[in-house]
Amino acid sequence: MPAPPRRFLYGTAWKEDRTPALTELALRMGFRGIDTANQRRHYFEAGVGQGLAAAYRAGVVTRGEVFLQTKFTYQGGQDHRLPYDPAADLSTQVAQSMASSLEHLGTDHVDSYVLHGPASGRGWTRADAEVWAAMVRERDAGRTRLLGVSNVALGHLEQMVAAGAELPRFVQNRCFAHLGWDREVRAFCAARGMVYQGFSLLTANVEVLRHRLITGLAAREGATPAQIVFRFALAVGMLPLTGTSSAEHMTQDLASHSLALTADEVRAIESLAG
Ligand SMILES: NC(=O)c1ccc[n+]([C@@H]2O[C@H](COP(=O)([O-])OP(=O)(O)OC[C@H]3O[C@@H](n4cnc5c(N)ncnc54)[C@H](OP(=O)(O)O)[C@@H]3O)[C@@H](O)[C@H]2O)c1
Repeated sequence: MPAPPRRFLYGTAWKEDRTPALTELALRMGFRGIDTANQRRHYFEAGVGQGLAAAYRAGVVTRGEVFLQTKFTYQGGQDHRLPYDPAADLSTQVAQSMASSLEHLGTDHVDSYVLHGPASGRGWTRADAEVWAAMVRERDAGRTRLLGVSNVALGHLEQMVAAGAELPRFVQNRCFAHLGWDREVRAFCAARGMVYQGFSLLTANVEVLRHRLITGLAAREGATPAQIVFRFALAVGMLPLTGTSSAEHMTQDLASHSLALTADEVRAIESLAG
């Protein structure tokens, strides 16, 4: 079974008909972690499965070499194309969504199963507790190795602790530089051996990509500002996501780990906007 990939997850959102080809391309380019969701509104999970199947057939990778992550999404985050019976209770919805994901992805287990977002922005609710317990049962039954939560505030995580819930292995959050790159949540994760997955590192931080500190480092390293941001993310222990559709950007994103930033430079980027 593959360990969580240390360097990148390839994100499959918003690719629609291009999902199979881009998933296969990402694997050919060297990505070994794939992030998707059973949320047809933003992801074409069955298309990810088609891309994986093509890569397996072509001998690019085996299932055992790929870290597969998908998500359970509440009805409020879905459109009409639901992967479960909306009249069923939440535990049943989790089981149905997982069964559908495994079928889409052509596998008997995923490596990580993520709660796409809690039911409320204001706290860890009874609905979340029910869904989380169902996700734990999916893990115990072997249909996922690991669990995660996404789009959470520090308060959600603290309430999970207070409720005695098992903590996730992963937190996947949109990472804003003006919030110290989600400093509080990253610190919570680091203190507990949890892995922080950061998304929208580029799109949520367009002003950072134009900042003199970043453009200066990019010029020195012969790299792009996007690569400096990804190098920074890796340096502070994040597992970054990229959903690029460009083969050139795939190469650049994966190559960013070899750029040399000093500890002082990493600290300067960390506090550049907040
Ligand atoms: N949990 C959640 O709620 C949630 C929400 C959003 C996203 N996600 C996950 O995160 C993944 C990534 O999403 P994202 O929001 O970070 O956006 P993204 O899809 O990665 O888009 C990033 C943008 O950056 C560009 N880009 C990528 N690498 C680049 C490079 N080296 N140089 C210049 N531009 C570059 C891309 O353009 P090109 O295509 O032209 O390269 C794209 O326009 C998604 O696919 C999804 O799996 C999760």
